[in-house]
Amino acid sequence: LRDSFITRSAKSVKSYTRQFQPQASTFKVAILGAAGGIGQPLALLVKMSPLISDLHLYDIANVKGVAADLSHCNTPSKVFDFTGVSELPNALQGVDLVVIPAGVPRKPGMTRDDLFNINANIVKTLVEAVADNCPNAFIHIISNPVNSTVPIAAEILKQKGVYDPKKLFGVTTLDVVRANTFVAKKKNLKLIDVDVPVIGGHAGITILPILSKTRPAVTFSDEETVELTKRIQNAGTEVVEAKAGAGSATLSMAYAAARFVESSLRALDGDSDVYECSFVQSQLTDLPFFASRIKLGVKGVEAIISADLQGLTGYEEKALEDLKVELKASIEKGVSFAQKKA
Ligand code: NAI
Repeated sequence: LRDSFITRSAKSVKSYTRQFQPQASTFKVAILGAAGGIGQPLALLVKMSPLISDLHLYDIANVKGVAADLSHCNTPSKVFDFTGVSELPNALQGVDLVVIPAGVPRKPGMTRDDLFNINANIVKTLVEAVADNCPNAFIHIISNPVNSTVPIAAEILKQKGVYDPKKLFGVTTLDVVRANTFVAKKKNLKLIDVDVPVIGGHAGITILPILSKTRPAVTFSDEETVELTKRIQNAGTEVVEAKAGAGSATLSMAYAAARFVESSLRALDGDSDVYECSFVQSQLTDLPFFASRIKLGVKGVEAIISADLQGLTGYEEKALEDLKVELKASIEKGVSFAQKKA
């Protein structure tokens, strides 16, 4: 089965032009919010995927130029641009996977929850269109606050009678990418080998890296655990502050989102060995949505992996109990927003 350009090490850069062999199947992918800080580098990265035949770029403005520019890259996927709500249905026709990075990003001093009012409405409108035009597609929600926008999307899909919990994903891959990077650096490990599961949600203390389950097995002192956990939880704020008003993480986010797209397409293509962490409908805890490692298959979430929650350290147990309070409130806020709008 095909290897992913994005999950491979530097050697893939050398060999990636040789990957474009005729493929068994290819997929149509739409990016909604494609002209934004995340949307543009994400579109570039997924344009490199041999698994994509058509790349649909949608935004309310500035998407024509992005599409014209990208279309000159000599990789196989064809690029199409769609601007404004009148073109949204066409952007979604026949699409297998929709990624939603549309919305406003954080500025210094803002929490992800501060974005709620604007982004909740944007996600609602876009998911309604997905329900009407490509109800069987995988949906990747990037727009924050993910802890609320995913429950909003679920409610909208339910209202439209097309909700398939196995196909709705909150993108938390960036938390895993950051955890892997920071742990590898701290422990002097080869980056490509490190895998840290991150569970819970995608905001502040709801982001819980399970450092005790790091692969390869490695031990952390109590101080290291606290320091690394906090850094992973606050990594987004690190970027927001460094950008000083110019937005939030876009490049690392695009990288992480492209990895999740590639993993999903590999699963759709029949690869039976695809695992990622994602915020999905879940029965792992008493909360209706929860991020954990999942197995991806042709129908979406094939299994939710419970092993990472077993045998937690005392620190992790307590952090898990603490995060549930905030996560529950964020989920309920999303659900009640969508129900009020119904
Ligand atoms: P940005 O402002 O640079 O881009 C957003 C894009 O969305 C713009 O091109 C804008 O025109 C477009 N847009 C706005 N309303 C739209 C609508 N109704 N339909 C289609 N497009 C629309 O923002 P950036 O930095 O790309 O961030 C986007 C979102 O991603 C934010 O909500 C941010 O908080 C979130 N984010 C999520 C992360 C995660 O790990 N899940 C990490 C980083 C950011």
